[in-house]
Amino acid sequence: MREVVVAANWKMHTTPADAGDLARTIAARTREPGVTRVICPPYVCLEAVGVALADADPDVAVGAQNVHHELAGAYTGEVSAPMLVGLATWVIVGHSERRRDAGETDELIGRKLGRALDAGLRPILCVGEQLEEREAGRAADVVDGHLRGALEGRDPAATHAGGLVVAYEPVWAIGTGRNATGADAAAMADAIRTSLDALGWADVAGAIPVLYGGSVTSTNVDTFFAEPSIDGALVGGASLKPDEMAGIVARAGMTARARGLAG
Ligand code: PGA
Repeated sequence: MREVVVAANWKMHTTPADAGDLARTIAARTREPGVTRVICPPYVCLEAVGVALADADPDVAVGAQNVHHELAGAYTGEVSAPMLVGLATWVIVGHSERRRDAGETDELIGRKLGRALDAGLRPILCVGEQLEEREAGRAADVVDGHLRGALEGRDPAATHAGGLVVAYEPVWAIGTGRNATGADAAAMADAIRTSLDALGWADVAGAIPVLYGGSVTSTNVDTFFAEPSIDGALVGGASLKPDEMAGIVARAGMTARARGLAG
């Protein structure tokens, strides 16, 4: 049975002074057996969040929101995978905001993914189409390109063992309050597994968790978890609100129980 994951992407919110308290509050309100919880604060808050969670609830993992594709060098302002070791155990790669704002390409994202795995960090690989691409009927093709670009040439078994999670995040749904329907998200999760099969990943495609992300809230979360092919959520705006996270993780807990993951 696939793992159930709820990951919080705090984006450029919180400071080292307040991130620990927020993490502590969320941890206390989201204790659901069988649900893997991850909080991804800004780099400068990783330590504060890690310290707070080690005390409040060590079952909540800490993730970074990005990682550089080189190990070290003359890259002003950047952070490499070995630097994250000890501060994070997960990392988001290929978020659409970085594809858009930092010009990240599939090839670069593939290198980031490799650095993450080499450092023992679990990658959350984000894929998803723009609105025009969906309207042109190209959503599955675009996502296939994202997967191929990031994963081609990589060993499927080793990547799965390294804990790869894929997040389907339609760009038009991120931060817009306009979420995909559960049925659309499930169709894309199925398309993602079909793409993985076609990449030669058939042995692990059915075991890799696929999350949905894009305007997930406690109010709409049920539509995603009602779909057996969706294994969790990557939550942005709502992840800064403890009440929202409590509702989202509670719903994830129902799926974890139904899958026999809750011990
Ligand atoms: P959102 O962000 O929940 O605010 O739409 C999701 C994400 O970007 O991961």
